Amino acid sequence: MQNPFQIDRRSNLGRKALLNEYVNKNLPVILTDAAKDWPAIGKWTPEFFKTHYGHLTKELDGRLITLAEQVDRVLASTPEDPAPYPYCVEMTDYFPDLLKDIEPAIVFGRMDRVRSPLMPKALMHGTPIHEIFFGGNGSAFPFVHFDALYLGTNITQIYGAKDFVLYRPEDGPYMYPRPDNEKFSRVTNVFDPDLERFPLFAKAKPYFATLNAGETIYFPCGWWHTTVTHCPSISSGRVVLNTLNYDMYLRDKYKRWSQRSKFKAKVAFGIGKGVGSLMSAIESLH
Ligand SMILES: [Fe+2]
Repeated sequence: MQNPFQIDRRSNLGRKALLNEYVNKNLPVILTDAAKDWPAIGKWTPEFFKTHYGHLTKELDGRLITLAEQVDRVLASTPEDPAPYPYCVEMTDYFPDLLKDIEPAIVFGRMDRVRSPLMPKALMHGTPIHEIFFGGNGSAFPFVHFDALYLGTNITQIYGAKDFVLYRPEDGPYMYPRPDNEKFSRVTNVFDPDLERFPLFAKAKPYFATLNAGETIYFPCGWWHTTVTHCPSISSGRVVLNTLNYDMYLRDKYKRWSQRSKFKAKVAFGIGKGVGSLMSAIESLH
């Protein structure tokens, strides 16, 4: 990868500056200290999960694996034989008792609409909120993509380190979106891309950062991204829903709802619009 942009790394960034310099400008940033009070930092290790949750299972590549097996694979992982990289592991389903370890929540936006008491549960049903990722040396997220439902993301590195490669939403025309899913790129290896098949990809400008333990990366909705790890790694992801991406979220949800019932989808969309207006009105007072 040639001359990637570096993502800003900031410490002790006040809320106003965070909003003005990054969130409202749709730019990513790394916060070195946003998770400094999280009990997870220093507590969550591969051994911790193997000891306390090793019996939990997840289907991966058509096979059921235990977390104990995954931890062993992570610790033995090499680039030649990398550990698998499970994703869509929702903390609320697998580790509800550990959610307290990732508090206080880091809020990017005037209001965290995921947690707003005004947000009806039905509007968040089926939306992943907290994900956890376990990877080893050579593990990589299998796709370059931007996140479902136009959600923003913040990812905190709990253990080890992880490399992130991001591309701006404006680079979408160079990303060769898949015909079956516009949020996924057909370019699979950003470090050694097949420029004969994907010549325009050379115009996409990569943003690169290594996220170290204790640091949090925020990237707004629509930013293409993928990750690779070079050591045992545990990270925690949290979706970001705020005034900037709420309407896009609602429209994408509507598409999903309407596959089941057009009528119910219209009702839910209407409720969502009303709730959004109310939240915007309250936010404007702050
Ligand atoms: Fe993602």
